[in-house]
Amino acid sequence: MKLKSPTTFDIERARDDTPGVIEKLHFNNAGASLMPRQVLDAVVSHLTLEAQIGGYEAAEKSKLSVERVYDAVATLLNCQRDEVAIVENATRAWDMAFYAMRFKPGDRILTAVSEYASNYIAFLQVKKSADVIIDVIANDQWGQIDLEALKQAIDESVKLIAITHVPTNGGLINPAAEVGQIARSAGIPYLLDACQSVGQMTIDVQEIGCDILTGTGRKFIRGPRGTGFLYVKNSALANLEPPFLDLHAAEWMGRDQYIVRQDARRFENWETNYAGKIGLGTAVDYALQWGLPNIEERVVMLANKLREILMTVPGVVVRDQGQKKCGIVTFTADALAATLIQEQLALKDINVSVSKVAYSRLDMEARKLNNLVRASVHYYNTEQEIERFCVELQRIIKVNG
Ligand SMILES: Cc1ncc(COP(=O)(O)O)c(C=O)c1O
Repeated sequence: MKLKSPTTFDIERARDDTPGVIEKLHFNNAGASLMPRQVLDAVVSHLTLEAQIGGYEAAEKSKLSVERVYDAVATLLNCQRDEVAIVENATRAWDMAFYAMRFKPGDRILTAVSEYASNYIAFLQVKKSADVIIDVIANDQWGQIDLEALKQAIDESVKLIAITHVPTNGGLINPAAEVGQIARSAGIPYLLDACQSVGQMTIDVQEIGCDILTGTGRKFIRGPRGTGFLYVKNSALANLEPPFLDLHAAEWMGRDQYIVRQDARRFENWETNYAGKIGLGTAVDYALQWGLPNIEERVVMLANKLREILMTVPGVVVRDQGQKKCGIVTFTADALAATLIQEQLALKDINVSVSKVAYSRLDMEARKLNNLVRASVHYYNTEQEIERFCVELQRIIKVNG
């Protein structure tokens, strides 16, 4: 079936801005997207300036561009700039907020089946140290967190609801805003891992109703690697003293005294990648120029087309769950190992990644899945690339099957 492309989307400009599309058919946007030239230029210019005039001096000279990242992320998420911290990656953002929480034995953390490995490992560590209870809420018929089951699980022992919006291993979109309503009406802190959703769809923290949200720069935002961000709602900040403090996050007031800074930058540290920060700000501004609803519309159109064709390929099973699906497409192909498919596609300059069991163990074990091929599209991909991808995949299955 031929799906209609959004008429307003200037795909030529998107591809002109993306040098990587010349060399590669890049379907690893959930791993790291191809940076637009604007982001690359911003990063390289700052590094060049550092080399020419000195790192501290370059930071001073680029102060406005460095500060811009806070406004850009605040616009992206619909929050205040003082609710944003810029850190190295989504995991560090998530950990800084999570480990700032104080739990006591018997406290319960509610999460979902699709929770990301690093987050779950942190739950397990706090279970070991503080004897908390990790309650995994069952899925509904779509594979999303079951909202009724979530409501039923709530009592006064629940101290946190922490879920992943879009899992690492599939197109599923958890009902983040509905979870937010439940969390708010029960007065329970809500931590949302939006690492795989931000940049490919509209994320509005007011609408979602989360207290904390985490994201990364390199995935659908198309920023440089080694960048991430943390949103913490103003009203939640005072109760969260970060697990690590330095002279940027706090001020040493006297021999035995320090005060933690008031804004979300209490979760940052002093030394940071200035070029990365500028690059992240540029990438967010670039995404905002396209418009997140436009990006989402095109990403969903492309991913749906990819799923539709894959479903016609003999031996291929599309594994994505969710009532509404996003740009991450996962599949298996009969007896062929996902890693072999990845390797064979790479020989044809096609990038995909492999989602392993240990990245999302609860979900993968429940579905009795081993590795999955993850082909994640972005708006700069084309329908022709999808067709080429499927032709190559069929060839690989035929030759190796
Ligand atoms: C759902 C999810 N959360 C968090 C992360 C971690 O992000 P980062 O590597 O930026 O720490 C990933 C990475 O793939 C992810 O898929």
